[in-house]
Formats: sequence, structure tokens, C-alpha cells
Amino acid sequence: MTYVHFRAAGVSLALDLAGPVPTVLHWGADLGELSDAGLRALAGSAVVEVPHNAPDVPRRLTLLPGEREFWSGTPGLAGHLAGRRTTPRPVLVDARVTEDTLAAELADDITGLRIGLEVQLTPQGLVRLRHRVRRPADDADPGQPYELAGVTALLPLPPRATEILDFTGRWARERQPQRQNITDGSHHRHGRRGKPGPDSPFLLLAGTTGFANRTGEVWGFHLAWSGESHWRIERLPESAPVLGGGEALRPGEVRLRPGDEYVSPDAFFAWSGHGLDGLAERFHGYLRARPSHPVRPRPVIVNTWEAVYFDHDLDRLRALVDKAAEVGAERFVLDDGWFLGRRDDRTSLGDWRADPVVWPGGLRPLADHVRAKGLEFGLWFEPEMISLDSETAREHPEWILSPSPGLGAPTRQQYVLDLTHPEAFDHVLTTMSAAITEYGVAYVKWDHNRELQEAVSRRNGDVVAVAAQARASYELMDQLRVRHPGLEIESCSAGGSRIDLGVLARTDRVWPSDCIDPVERVMIDRWTMQLLPPELVGVHVGSSPAHTTSRRTDTTLRFAGALLGHAGVEWDLTARDEDELAALRAFIAYHKSIRPLIARGTVVNADLPDPATTLRGVVDADATRAVYIWARTVTSPAVLSGQVQFPGLDPDRDYTVRIVGDFGLPQFHGRIHSPWVRQALDGGVTLPGAVLVRAGLPMPALAAQQAMVLDLGA
Ligand code: DGJ
Repeated sequence: MTYVHFRAAGVSLALDLAGPVPTVLHWGADLGELSDAGLRALAGSAVVEVPHNAPDVPRRLTLLPGEREFWSGTPGLAGHLAGRRTTPRPVLVDARVTEDTLAAELADDITGLRIGLEVQLTPQGLVRLRHRVRRPADDADPGQPYELAGVTALLPLPPRATEILDFTGRWARERQPQRQNITDGSHHRHGRRGKPGPDSPFLLLAGTTGFANRTGEVWGFHLAWSGESHWRIERLPESAPVLGGGEALRPGEVRLRPGDEYVSPDAFFAWSGHGLDGLAERFHGYLRARPSHPVRPRPVIVNTWEAVYFDHDLDRLRALVDKAAEVGAERFVLDDGWFLGRRDDRTSLGDWRADPVVWPGGLRPLADHVRAKGLEFGLWFEPEMISLDSETAREHPEWILSPSPGLGAPTRQQYVLDLTHPEAFDHVLTTMSAAITEYGVAYVKWDHNRELQEAVSRRNGDVVAVAAQARASYELMDQLRVRHPGLEIESCSAGGSRIDLGVLARTDRVWPSDCIDPVERVMIDRWTMQLLPPELVGVHVGSSPAHTTSRRTDTTLRFAGALLGHAGVEWDLTARDEDELAALRAFIAYHKSIRPLIARGTVVNADLPDPATTLRGVVDADATRAVYIWARTVTSPAVLSGQVQFPGLDPDRDYTVRIVGDFGLPQFHGRIHSPWVRQALDGGVTLPGAVLVRAGLPMPALAAQQAMVLDLGA
């Protein structure tokens, strides 16, 4: 067996196992059934035995590229043993192939390492790549550790991949796209925050010229890891670009002694022949197929943060619970401010028990009231952090992750708790677990507000602990889930600074941003959903003016913005008038009616020439039901929006289009002239799918910061 050809969901991954290291012949569009002759033709030529500058021989990338094969880009494996053993020459010694996975074992005489490569083409067409680097117990030079500098997962791109799209951001402005051309050299992103951070590349994408939501070929890379990472698109003059990355290891972080093994986080690669939406569909399908994926309807949340901040008071919160129940919420989340002495953000992290002054009876009276009203109770924690002004820090200053000569400066008045310290880990596990049991907590909002500067553990003599801390955090989540079956966790990190498939393997929802201003959130959520299906993405109705931007917005945009996701409310409901509460009740009722669609449907984004407008929707698998949000953030130079095509529908069906006015309509500047809009507002208008999909509907020109919800049924 020389060739392996995996095919799934319109994707082919073809590998050649003839050389010393498996070689990638093709990753991209499905090639159909290929005979051996076909695969030989694909291979074109032998790989490494030819002169590297032969002009008629294609350069091929192996799954562990290195200098031995004339690869002068980032190597697949880097490290050394006291300055020696730096030029690996791995050789394939074993290959097990199943229907969708290659498990290859490479032996390297130079480094003395065994390298396992696990490559899977998932049923959704994602390539998942994992490395295992093992130092055999019988290494001939056992005295020195092998210092692993890094393992990089790379796949080749064709030369027609010319453009890069990835993301950056800051607090309250996460996942901002940035686009540029691929040039010779490295587009290299390196996360050094101890977590992905608000400027995480998130998804590193390459595409054919002008690729867009619905068009063009797109190749994407994502690392399922919540620690530090590096991401790269690299092009050398002698070859087409490559795409990938891996865990970014600090010097000395992984030192392999005989018998030790390093297992990399999973690297995910996705290809789409139908633009960005096609790529998102693969990730969404993959996540939805996980056994741990939340399947019950996502409970509508009322969160206390922007409603009361630190001003906790049982009567006030009970009143908020009553209003939450009245409008139809199903989960009440008590945010920051409930534990020992916590009146602002300067104190108490680490002391996970209810403050006896504010909560003389503990949280039971509130939690019981929440349940009596038929809601679940959720609670905020920031388990990986510690305040200097806390009982925990006073008793155990050595638990703070920081060099022994002294603490550095605090961030948000706080430090990181050393979870690699077994006693510190146990303290958090035990105290959280006790609170979860005592108050019947169904949902933990898990926050993480500080980055990991100077993250060394004093326990073992100031040893670097960035990766170990990330692994310990995962372990803490895993152990809590084992102790409390059914417990749901939200990954929040000063807003959306920890969103990746590593943390998603043990959490059920993410908080994309602390900015709930819908003008900003339209695109933050759109891009978060480039990776995650909408039911995992928390979207809240907030107040106007928005707390983070002071911008006033129309309720249509605030409601519409919170519709297609895991919906919630972060607004002081006790101060709302009856009209506002009625609109919110109608919004929640409508959201609940389309939850099954949101949880199963395909996310679609129209390509529109006007960047101020968006048409985003969720369409059922058989295209019989769809909901779209037509939104405008700012004014545009054009007077009219013109005809807008509706993506994802079936051109051969007829659709009844209804404009959902149950929770507010945009101002149409007086009388409605468009016949279809009038009919769609008045019970619905039936239109051919071909008109919607191909000709497009002349969409009403909305004023700035307005939105309209369209509900379509075949
Ligand atoms: C940051 C989070 O993103 C907010 O939602 C809120 O939970 C605060 N922390 C609480 O301190």
C-alpha cells in the first residue's frame, strides 16, 4: 500500500506513503474514486530522491517537513539535546489505515525520538492532525532532556490561494477581520497571552482571489488549544504556500526525558469550494456531531452583570428573577460579586463562598427563588484567578503564579492562581464543587480576565508553567463535569478571549464579547459563527445606550442581534416599562419557536456590496424553513438597497415570506409602498424560490441601526 485516499463530504485527502515521511498529494476538492494509476498520476513523481531544484518535478510537502527533504520553511519538528540532535531524519516504520484515519509511526535515529502522526478526515470533511513525540525509555543518552522547541502541523495550499483572512481585536472588539495578500515569507501570528486573547487569529484562512461568503475556494486552519499558539501561512519562492501552526512552547517548557511523551493539541484544517459559508458548515457539522454537544433547547438566559454589576441585594435580585420569569427566561445567572467581600473588582478572587454580609443566608434564598419560578440557576466563577486581598492569597501566597523574587503588576487588581500546584487545584475544585452542590448550580459562567505574564510556578523553583496551566484548567473543567453530570459551562474570558475548540471540548457556550452594542456585535457574532454553530454562541439583548460604547440603538437591531444564537438578556428588567417587557416577551417567545432551526440549520451570509448592510440567516437542512436578519449598521451612499439574493434556499420551491413584527418593526419612513413588504407584514407573501435565490428581492432601505426579521417557510 503506497497511497491513501480519504474522501468525505466533498473533500479528498491523498497521501503517498512511499517516502520516509507520508507526503501530501492533495488536500481539497473531492477527486472521486481514483485508481492506483490515477493516484500515481496525482503523485507525478517520486518526492525526495530527486534534485530539489528539478523544474519538472513538483515540490511536495510531507506531514513532518524538514531539511532532509530540502524544506527551508518552518520545520515540522524542532528541538535539541544540549545543542545536538537538531536535524531529524524520521522514517516511517508503521502505518495503520482505517476508513478515515492514518496512524503513522516514525522513528528518527538522529533525535532518537518516535513521532506518531494521526491524520483523520472527519465525516464533515475536516482534516484533524495530531502529533505525539515520544522519547523511548531506552534512549542511549538518558542524562540530558530533549528540549522540544515545537511541533508544527502544516498542509500545502495550491498557488491559486492568494489572499489571507484572519482576525485580531481588543477587549469589547474581538474577532475583527484583517485581509491581505499572500507574499513570499511568513505571515506569522504568535499568541503570547497564555490564552488565545482578544486578538487571537481564531481561524487562519487562505483563499482564491476575491473569495467571499458564498464564493471562491477557501482553506482554513484552527488550533484546538487555549494556551499559546502560533499560526502561519508561509510561501517560499520554490513552492506554493503552506498553512498551519501549533502550540507555541516557551523555552524549556517541554523537556523530554526517556519515557516522556508530548501530545500536541489537535490541528484542524478545512477546505471549502463555496466560500466562507461552506467552511463554517464543516466546523458546525463537526461540533454538532460530538457526543457532548448540547442537544436540549438552549435555555434563554437572564444575566445580572449589566443589570446590577456588583450591587447585589437579595430583594432586588428576586425582583429581577420575577421579571425574568415573566418574560419567559429559563436560566438566571448570578454574575460577579457574590463571594466573600467582593464589592468591586479589587478583592476576593479565590474565596469561593457566599459573602455573609450581603448574603446572610447564603445564596440558597436566591437560588431557591430562581427554581421556584421555574428557571435554572447559574453562577459566575473566575477559577484560575486570585486577588491579593483574599483569604486564599493571605494563607497561600505561594499559590500565585509569579517569580519568587516578587510579584509583577496586577491586571484588573488580580493575579493568576497556580493550578499546577496540587493544593491550589484542589482548593478551587473543592470550593467550586461545594458551591455547585449547595446551590444546585446548573451552569457556570467561567471567566478568565488576566493574561499569563511571568507565568512561572514557584513550587518547582520558578519553572515555566504556561502550557501546564492551560492543561490544568482543562483538567479542572473535566473534573467538575465528572463530579456534576449535566453541569453546563460557558467559556468567558474578559468577553471573548478564550474561544477555541480545545475549551469547547469541555464547555457548552461561549461569550463572544463584553460589548453588547448590536452595531458592534453584528460582525463579532458573524465571525464567531465562522467557527461555532449559533447555538454555542451567547447573544444578549442589552440596554440602550450600550454600556461599553454609549451608543443608542433601535430595539429592532438589539432584538434581531440576539435572535440567532444562544439568546439571553443583560438589561435591568426591573426598570423596564410594560411596552418594553411585552416586546421582550414576544422576542423570547419567537426565539423559542425557532430554536430547533437555530440548533440544526445551516448558517448563511449574503455577499452584499454595501458593507453597512448584512443579510444573515439560518436555513433548515431541506431548505423548507429559514429565518434571516436584514440589518443596517450605518448609513450608506446608495439611496436604495436594490435586489438582494437570499442564500441557501431552494430555487425550485415556493416560499411564504413573513416579516416578523411581533417584537418591533423598523421605521419605514411613513407609508409602505413596496407591495411585497406590505403583504409580508400583513400575514405573508408567497414567492418563487428562484426569485429569492437568483433575481433577489428589492429590500427596504433601513435607517441606520435598524434590522428586520424575515421568516420563510416552503
Ligand atoms: C468579564 C466578563 O466578560 C463579564 O461578562 C463579566 O462577567 C465580568 N467579567 C465580571 O467581572
